[in-house]
Amino acid sequence: MTQHIDFYKKLQEIVKNGKIPYVIQSGQGAYLTINGDEKLNFCSSHYLGLAVDGRVKKAAKDAIDRYGIGTGYRTLAGTQILHIELEKAIAVFKGTEAAVVFSSAYLANAAAIQTLIGKEDIVISDELNHASIIDAVRLSGSKNKFIYKHADMADLEVKLQEVSEMRKTPKSNGETPLALIVTDGVFSMDGDLAPLPEIVKLAKQYDCLTMVDDAHGEGVMGKGGRGIVNHFDLVGEIDIEVGSLSKAFSVLGGFIAGKKTLVDFYNQKARQRLFSIALTIPDTAAALEAVKILQESDSLVKTLWDNTTYLRSKLQKLGFNTGSSQTPITPVMMPSEEVAKEFSARLFEEGVFATPIVFPMVSKGKARIRVIPSASHEKKDLDFGIVAFEKVAKNLNVLK
Ligand SMILES: Cc1ncc(COP(=O)(O)O)c(C=O)c1O
Repeated sequence: MTQHIDFYKKLQEIVKNGKIPYVIQSGQGAYLTINGDEKLNFCSSHYLGLAVDGRVKKAAKDAIDRYGIGTGYRTLAGTQILHIELEKAIAVFKGTEAAVVFSSAYLANAAAIQTLIGKEDIVISDELNHASIIDAVRLSGSKNKFIYKHADMADLEVKLQEVSEMRKTPKSNGETPLALIVTDGVFSMDGDLAPLPEIVKLAKQYDCLTMVDDAHGEGVMGKGGRGIVNHFDLVGEIDIEVGSLSKAFSVLGGFIAGKKTLVDFYNQKARQRLFSIALTIPDTAAALEAVKILQESDSLVKTLWDNTTYLRSKLQKLGFNTGSSQTPITPVMMPSEEVAKEFSARLFEEGVFATPIVFPMVSKGKARIRVIPSASHEKKDLDFGIVAFEKVAKNLNVLK
């Protein structure tokens, strides 16, 4: 009994300083309603504005009318015609032989690594990879993990030389250990890109498999938003491409795209697919519609990039340090964590919703407000946000 009380006291201690989350009372468009007030949505990863797009909403509604809501376990009786259509559409869009969909990119990353990598295999991972990759590597049980310095190809090569030596000793079943290089495509805190061409070159040289998590590149980078692999003209050169349907596609879900044999392997063996429910009907229909919209036109992607260039040049002109992003993710660097939090609170008072990013999300001394424009913003919306940034910066003496 005492142990029980102590346990809950300990939990209470852990959660007591937790923040009450903002509760959104509207759709995720250019503006949000929060606590009854309208705020400029200046930090969401609904890059293309599809969360409130009429075509996507209609597709979900029509599918509900036709098929209802729930599905099932894919391998038993849960594979719906819409799942097959979505997977085909993703493969065509990405230019891969096939694709398999999961309930989130978190699960797709877990499946991609856990299903392939055993405890005697080797993973070589960028130090700033997303938490879902870190967790996936843990889940694989691999005893041979190498972390290379962020986007540092010299360091990657040092690790690959070590890996080469290690692979001379076969696994207990006599096979050579697999070696997988894994990286985010777009790094979500700074908006910088993985040096994929160099990674592919090194992977060939050292006979490694490659995996890229393109959660923030899908719908943003490459021709018509086809992602980072397309951006670097490397279609067909990456073994495993993971994508998210929750960011530019604005729905829910994740996928693995690649060669048909690889996708068949995941279809049959991934525990995240065997033991977890498939996407619901409205999610699947909405995601399918979002992919079709991008397949047919690049106009939303163009608007996103116009807005990005406009916003960034205005912020820079005002004197803000916006880091070295190569994507719409725009980190506005702050002198300290305290200033970042205060800056965000004051922006909120000015009608702008842009959250502070502080340690442990970024390293100490790198506090920022992460601004993300979207295709749903008009120039006047961006100007509204820029004016607020200028006012708050002056009040807080941030711009010297
Ligand atoms: C790089 C990266 N990978 C994966 C995920 C997980 O995506 P999902 O929301 O689809 O699980 C995220 C989400 O923040 C991400 O930024």
